[in-house]
Amino acid sequence: MSQMSSKVEECTESLDPSEIGTKDYWDSFYDKEVENFIDHGDIGDIWFGKAMLQKIVQWIDKKDGIKHENSIIDLGCGNGWTLIMLAKLGYTNLTGVDYSENAIELAKSVAKTEDFLNIDYQVYDLVDSNCCSKLQGFKVAVDKGTYDAISLSPDDSNIKRCKYKTNVAKLICDNGFLIISSCNWTEQELIDYFKDYFDFTEAISPPKTFQFGGKTGNEYSTVVLQKRT
Ligand SMILES: C[S@@+](CC[C@H](N)C(=O)[O-])C[C@H]1O[C@@H](n2cnc3c(N)ncnc32)[C@H](O)[C@@H]1O
Repeated sequence: MSQMSSKVEECTESLDPSEIGTKDYWDSFYDKEVENFIDHGDIGDIWFGKAMLQKIVQWIDKKDGIKHENSIIDLGCGNGWTLIMLAKLGYTNLTGVDYSENAIELAKSVAKTEDFLNIDYQVYDLVDSNCCSKLQGFKVAVDKGTYDAISLSPDDSNIKRCKYKTNVAKLICDNGFLIISSCNWTEQELIDYFKDYFDFTEAISPPKTFQFGGKTGNEYSTVVLQKRT
């Protein structure tokens, strides 16, 4: 899914469209993942790999002021493994959202098998205008590959990216954190794009290699952004 961005000017820069930016793609992807989980207990892809996920979870766990009872949301949660990792560390106020019903079905099944029945999984489209009326006050939001997928939408990707940014800013509390991993946007592009609402806190450097969609690579960005009051 790695593509170069063609920079025209801020907010009009865009990526070449791809099927990865469509709901049909993810519905069919997770339909197969659900089958695999039922047949073989395979939880499927962990985007950017286990080592990167470990680094993100460790950042959350070591950050002063983030407590086990603080609310954390996984944006485009897929199989929900990020939240399982956090639950294993003792985090208790966890929400996962995805626009694919099949992803949410998989995430719920994985959580049940792991015995974490208190994770709240919901179907939401993060570019929908009404998405944030019920999702509010999160201390931390994690996005691994979801802004990337939205950026690849064949229809109105720039409008969708803007909508995503506004929605995500609304659902995070003042001074809360957005941790975002991308293989399509550089750290600086992420910082610049989200700067209307968020200040850069730090970058989390990737391990030497990572897996994305079953392939191995070594170039991507993870930044921690803090919402301004
Ligand atoms: C690359 S996968 C990453 C999955 C998960 N975050 C992970 O790290 O394993 C992108 C995810 O974003 C979800 N997604 C894409 N566009 C979305 C949207 N507009 N609203 C909610 N979820 C979306 C897809 O269904 C998919 O689960």
